[in-house]
Amino acid sequence: MNDRAPMHAFDRGAKRLSKRILRYALKRVRMDPPLDHAVPAEELRRLAGHTVTAEGIGAERAMSVWEDVLAPACISIDHPRYFSYVPAAPTEAAGLFDVAASAANIFGGSWQEGAGAIFAENEALRWIAALAGMPTDAGGVFVSGGTAGNLSALVAARWKWRHDSPSMNSTRGVIIASRAAHSSINQAAQVMDVDVVWAEDDDRGRLSGDSVQATWQSMSEEQQRCTFCVVATGGTTNVGIVDDLEGVGSLAATHGLWFHVDAAYGGAALAAPSVRELFNGIERADSLIVDPHKWLFAPFDSCALLYRNPQIARAAHTQHAEYLDALRHDDDWNPSDYAHHLTRRARGLPLWFSLAVHGTAAYSESVERSLTVTREGADDIRSSSHLELVMEPELSVLMFRRHGWTTEQYYAWSDKVLTDGLAFVVPTSWRGETVLRLCLVNPATTRDDLRLVFDSLK
Ligand SMILES: Cc1ncc(COP(=O)(O)O)c(C=O)c1O
Repeated sequence: MNDRAPMHAFDRGAKRLSKRILRYALKRVRMDPPLDHAVPAEELRRLAGHTVTAEGIGAERAMSVWEDVLAPACISIDHPRYFSYVPAAPTEAAGLFDVAASAANIFGGSWQEGAGAIFAENEALRWIAALAGMPTDAGGVFVSGGTAGNLSALVAARWKWRHDSPSMNSTRGVIIASRAAHSSINQAAQVMDVDVVWAEDDDRGRLSGDSVQATWQSMSEEQQRCTFCVVATGGTTNVGIVDDLEGVGSLAATHGLWFHVDAAYGGAALAAPSVRELFNGIERADSLIVDPHKWLFAPFDSCALLYRNPQIARAAHTQHAEYLDALRHDDDWNPSDYAHHLTRRARGLPLWFSLAVHGTAAYSESVERSLTVTREGADDIRSSSHLELVMEPELSVLMFRRHGWTTEQYYAWSDKVLTDGLAFVVPTSWRGETVLRLCLVNPATTRDDLRLVFDSLK
C-alpha cells in the first residue's frame, strides 16, 4: 500500500506512520536525552539530502531523517545539565498531552469552537492567579511566550491610559522599567513606539519602590503625564532576583500607573513556600505573566498572561470583522480577545493536564527541589578554591566567576563541555565582567550534576 497518497486517508501506510510517530514521541518523553548540539547547515544538507520533493520521500525515510539527522542536531533542553538561558523540563504527562492536543487541533481562540479546551486552560490560569493572590475574577490567556505576554499586557495598559485620558490619544506614552528588566520589555516598547524611562536597579539588580520614586521625581511633568505603566520583574533572567513588588506596586498605585509584573521565569516559585514571601506585592499587579514552558514543566510554547481586570484587555485586543460577527464577546470567554492574536492553539492544555494528573502539591515540591539544589550548589561554590559566587542566589540562578579566567577562556570552556556532551552553560556578564550562570528548573538536576560542572572548571 502506498503510504504517501492520498494524504488524508487512513490506510495501512498511515497506520504504520502513526505508530512510528507515537513510538518516537513516547520514547522521546521518557528517555534520558543526549545533550546533542547544533550542526552546520551544509552538514545537515549532506546528511539529510533533499527532503521536500515533488513526489515526497515517504514516511519511513522522513521519520528516519528526523530521528537520525535532524533531532540530534537540536540541543535537549530537558537534559539535566542544560543550564543556559532558561531551560525547560516538561513532565511526561504534559509532553504527551501536547501530542494529544495537537492531534485534536482545537481552535483555542473562541468559546464557540473550543469551550472545553478553554475551560481547562482557565482552570490552570486560575491556579496561577490564586498563587499570586489576584482577585477571583482575574483572567487571561495562554500566549506563545513571555515576549508576547509582555507586549499584550503593555498594549492593554496603554489602552486604559488613553481610554481614561482621551486627550492622550495621539500622545507617545512612557513606561518605567528597571535596567534589569527582560529585553522583551524594551522590544515591546519599540513595537508600540513608546519610550522607556529606565529606573536604577540596586547592586543585586533589584528594582525598589524608592528607585521608582526617584525616577518619577527626575521626570518632567510632561513625561509624568505620558507615563502609563511601571514594570517589575519577578525573577530577573540574568540573576533570578525578585524586585520589590510591594514597593513598586504601591508607587504605581500612588501615581495611577498600571503595574505589570513579568514573572515569566520566576513566577513558578509562587508555588514554593520557601521563597513565596519574596513575591509579596504581586497581588497588586494589573497584569502578570508566568511562563509554564520555563519552570512549570510544560512544553514550548506557553505563557500564562493574567489581567486583574480582563475587560480592559478585551477592549484593547478584540478584533472586529464581518466574518467574526457571529462570535459573542459579551457572554463568552474568547481567548483571542485577551492578547495580540486571533487564531491560537490551546497551548495551556499540557499544563492543565499535568496539573490535573499530578496535583498542585507535586508542582510545589518540584520547584522546591530546584531551589534546594541551587542552594547546595551555592554551598559547593563557597567552599571551592577556584570559584566564587558573584551573588547569593535568591531563586534558582547561580552566578559565579572562575578565578583568573579571561572571557576567551570562559567561551572556550563552554564550547568544550558542550562538544563533550557534559553540559550546556553559556557565559553571561555581570556589570561588565564575563561570568558563568547556571539556571536550574529541571527537577532531574542533582547536586552531582552541578559538581561535574564545577570540577570541569578546575
Ligand atoms: C523575565 C523574562 N521575561 C520575558 C522572557 C521572554 O520569554 P519568551 O522567551 O518566552 O518570549 C524571559 C525569557 O527568558 C524572561 O526570563
